[in-house]
Amino acid sequence: MRLSVIGCGYVGLVTGACLAEAGHEVMCTDIDAARIAQLNAGGVPIYEEHLEEVLASSRKAGRISYTSDTAEAIRFGDAIFICVGTPPREDGSADLSAIDHVAQQIATVSQSSKLVVEKSTVPARTGLELRRALTAYSRGGGVSFSVASNPEFLREGTAVYDFFHPDRIVVGVDDEAAAEKMREIYRPILERRFKCMAHKDGCPLEPKAEFLVTTINSAELIKHASNSFLALKISYANVIADLCEKLEGNVEQVTHAMGLDPRIGTQFLKAGLGFGGFCFPKDIQAFIQLSSSVGVDFEILKAAERVNKERIDRFIEKVSKALWVVKGKRVAVLGLAFKANTDDIRFSPAIYVIRRLLDEGAQVHATDPEALSNAQKILPRVTFHEDPYETVRDAHAVLVCTEWGVFKNLDWDRAGKLMARKLVVDGRNLYSPKRMAELGFEYHSFGRG
Ligand code: UGA
Repeated sequence: MRLSVIGCGYVGLVTGACLAEAGHEVMCTDIDAARIAQLNAGGVPIYEEHLEEVLASSRKAGRISYTSDTAEAIRFGDAIFICVGTPPREDGSADLSAIDHVAQQIATVSQSSKLVVEKSTVPARTGLELRRALTAYSRGGGVSFSVASNPEFLREGTAVYDFFHPDRIVVGVDDEAAAEKMREIYRPILERRFKCMAHKDGCPLEPKAEFLVTTINSAELIKHASNSFLALKISYANVIADLCEKLEGNVEQVTHAMGLDPRIGTQFLKAGLGFGGFCFPKDIQAFIQLSSSVGVDFEILKAAERVNKERIDRFIEKVSKALWVVKGKRVAVLGLAFKANTDDIRFSPAIYVIRRLLDEGAQVHATDPEALSNAQKILPRVTFHEDPYETVRDAHAVLVCTEWGVFKNLDWDRAGKLMARKLVVDGRNLYSPKRMAELGFEYHSFGRG
């Protein structure tokens, strides 16, 4: 099928690349002409595992193209995937102006019927508004539009893998024809008819993805409800960590045992600096706003958000207590991205930590395997290093903010010899407290005594 993708952020690029790899013809567009030029030159504007290979392979097969001419892209596809940003407004609600703008363009330039697929994360009822807008803007132009909500559950860093191996594909529609078209689009994924970068010898056939057809409103709610629930789990684990510190428990032992109950599950119970990124913090806020706009008080979610913000305070408290005086101290920060395997620093706990340290007068040195250039743009007062060992040189404290494998495997014997003082405050519980003590470190982490 011929597909258009509007918006070449990580969701748009991964969606376009994977659907092209699965056999469709895809044309992508973005208002950022420089990004389109970079893609046309064979470049990849974001770091995402396997994305470069998938884009190169689809490009070689002639199944993916890029244009900065939005009208050309819109006319190309039978289905149009809207993957534009929905950033938070001042009050936390989602800014839907980019979606509205795209709707106007689709309605006015389309020359044939289109299935318009909402992939951006949006509050419930956006799909219905989108359909109303398409009808209104097209002014009876003779072209018909149907709308589908197709939320994504991709995790940054493993988005390509997730796209090819989903546990569910949710499709919110209000007519059977749209559901059928969406099933057709996803058939290669459902039937595992694609070349997967992670399993060179073919993907395991089980477990199979569920293809769920729902109403448009339900599909939109599924996305917000899923992200919010995962955020709740993280904040819950973080409160348990605080309790463990007071009551001499070990959060890892507690959450591990809890998670073995299949009704709870082991994932997303890792305590530490809390969640960041462009999804959870903004999605939670948007869900709280949406709920209050319809008279439902989502107290439990507000508490999860508050707990998450307080993680930074807890961490800074640990640092201040250990250092006694922060002003003038050289502090090394390992990790800038909001999690490992991404260069994304948006709403990253590491950035909040660094800003607090700078406010308190520390000299901050920092490193990250992928996020350095993004961080350099927003943190002019920080000294950046490529090499973690150069970062920790002469440091009075090393703070671990992102769980990158390279930090997990750091040679602490070597690092300790370079540091001015052997103090590590670990925001991601990466190391064994016993081992760090054996190596002569003063070591602090979350909820482990
Ligand atoms: C999240 C969801 O996991 C995806 O399913 C969803 O599609 C995506 O948002 C989205 O809405 O687009 P992502 O933001 O890439 O994906 O990152 P996660 O892996 O979910 O991690 C979010 C944050 O939670 C990170 O800062 C991570 O360090 C933190 N986290 C995660 C914890 O603090 N503890 C945990 O146990 C797990």
